[in-house]
Amino acid sequence: MADTRRQHLKLASRAVHAGERPGPRDFVPVVTPIYPGSTFIYEDLDQMDAALGGAEGVFVYTRYGNPTTQALETAVASLEEQEAALALGSGMAALNVTILASVEAGDRVVASRDLYGQTITLLNAIYSSLGVETTFVDALDLDQVEHALARGRVRLVLCETISNPLLRVTDIPALAELAHRYGARLAVDNTFATPYLLRPGTLGADYVIHSATKYLGGHGDVTGGVVATTADRRWELNEINKAIGSILGPFESWLILRGIKTLPLRMQRQCENAARVARWLAEHPAVERVYYPGLEIHESHRTARELFPNGLYGAMVAFDIRDGTRERVFRFLRGLRLIVPATTLGDVYTEVLYPVMASHRGLSPEQRQAIGIGEGLVRISVGIEDPDDIIADLEQALAQV
Ligand SMILES: Cc1ncc(COP(=O)(O)O)c(C=O)c1O
Repeated sequence: MADTRRQHLKLASRAVHAGERPGPRDFVPVVTPIYPGSTFIYEDLDQMDAALGGAEGVFVYTRYGNPTTQALETAVASLEEQEAALALGSGMAALNVTILASVEAGDRVVASRDLYGQTITLLNAIYSSLGVETTFVDALDLDQVEHALARGRVRLVLCETISNPLLRVTDIPALAELAHRYGARLAVDNTFATPYLLRPGTLGADYVIHSATKYLGGHGDVTGGVVATTADRRWELNEINKAIGSILGPFESWLILRGIKTLPLRMQRQCENAARVARWLAEHPAVERVYYPGLEIHESHRTARELFPNGLYGAMVAFDIRDGTRERVFRFLRGLRLIVPATTLGDVYTEVLYPVMASHRGLSPEQRQAIGIGEGLVRISVGIEDPDDIIADLEQALAQV
């Protein structure tokens, strides 16, 4: 069908404009379309003026807001039971904008010593040079947290729901109460638990952060981050991000939005598979110790039972290979045929990571030992495959160590 409105134009002009901006339509696509436009136009200049002034629900420039990205933000806010959410270019961007919104030079942060390595680097290498000092604590030891808070001028407490790689579960209500008592905000990285297990904002957290690269996306094909919070704080974060520009592109927003549709199905299956894998590993002679909050021997079993829905403890499992050395772990990793060695987690595929080589590479063996990460520790992100196949792969690879 020719574009009759533009047929009078010369070919070069038709190449640019023909078919575009068809005007209002009386059908609604079932899924949110991808709006790749970097800018949006209005028939009425007063409307455009209002949009540039920040009017609700209208768009002028994608760095300020985009309809596809807004659909993702609405979905995450809904799942996390928060008023609003802001999507960003990565989980690290989400963490960075949250910290920036909370502190200025001379302020202090209290952070869990178990945080994701790059989050520690962000605080230690970047924020410290900007005059923001961080005290790292064992977030499960509330006396230690309070001691750090009592030093004064702490604006932000930062933790993860389930820590990496030992899967320690934070008592979020207790931490929120402590942080607020000392006038600090609590930011919780909920990447490992996802809103399917826990919604930290309903337990007192002021910011809920996700690396959407992980379970929200779920398929290993997109990088993104989200912060869910109140409408006022979301506005504050967006004002900062309008200047920083760590936005999530509309294509990525759309992929994550699609991933979220199956999050409950994937999480249910992944948690069930993880529980089976953890119990199987616990019986294996080549395995010295299993870290899984669903096992009674895990230090966080009680907290996990209180905070998570019945019978679900997340889909991450870690274990120590007996007499674990780098060589033995490498033999195990090389032996895997189905499970993918990958520096990520939360995907539909089962993935394995060696913390000594990857996430905790930057620490000395002594530093790793101090936080309980030995040379034989392996972390598995359990996927949605048939659990029999996952276990069979582990079995044949463990036979080779
Ligand atoms: C718990 C946690 N938070 C944040 C991040 C950073 O996310 P991204 O890689 O999307 O920047 C990661 C990445 O592995 C993570 O594991």
